[in-house]
Amino acid sequence: MPQDAEAIRSILSLAPVIPVIILDDVSQARPLAEALVAGGLPILEVTLRTPNALKVMEEMAKVTGAIVGSGTVRNANHMQQSVDAGCRFMVSPGISPRILDAADDIGIPLLPGIGTPSEAMTASERGYSFLKFFPAEALGGAPVLKAFASPLSDIKFCPTGGLDPVKAKTYLALPNVICVGGSWMMPADALASGDWAQIEALAREASQLRG
Ligand code: 3PG
Repeated sequence: MPQDAEAIRSILSLAPVIPVIILDDVSQARPLAEALVAGGLPILEVTLRTPNALKVMEEMAKVTGAIVGSGTVRNANHMQQSVDAGCRFMVSPGISPRILDAADDIGIPLLPGIGTPSEAMTASERGYSFLKFFPAEALGGAPVLKAFASPLSDIKFCPTGGLDPVKAKTYLALPNVICVGGSWMMPADALASGDWAQIEALAREASQLRG
């Protein structure tokens, strides 16, 4: 079926920020997810960019309160693997006819990425009303989404790519932004040293960004 708008809306409404996670060390999956959930960010996007990403998803999906989705979904195989790993939603960096066809056969919603009005219109024609705007900052940032708001008024966006807390707040003030995605609350040094308290504190700050 086309994007289940109510299903994806209810997920994307739960927190203003979705942590975008790139993790290979499975032993870090649970403590990282626990820190993010404790900080008020329960929606977790785990990208399929590491050999152990599926195992990381499985571990994170066991954490109470965590709602885990897969990111960097590029094909039908990734989608089935995401479902099998316990994911509740999927995110793709872009749209393609094949990926939209494949999503029609999967029981969890896809948040596909777009970068232009033409791509947004293509996705909209396929029944999508919630889209990721990616890579947000490289494409021009909040002014671009502000310009989308009137002509594409029926579409809500989750901008991702190059955000920090200040930029996130600017996006979140736009009427067509439902939430944002980013990795800034998981600094590499904090991840490397297992400084979960720091990550929880940064997550808490992020969870309060909607004005
Ligand atoms: C990504 O795909 O890596 C996400 O957009 C996260 O981007 P960020 O690391 O720039 O926040």
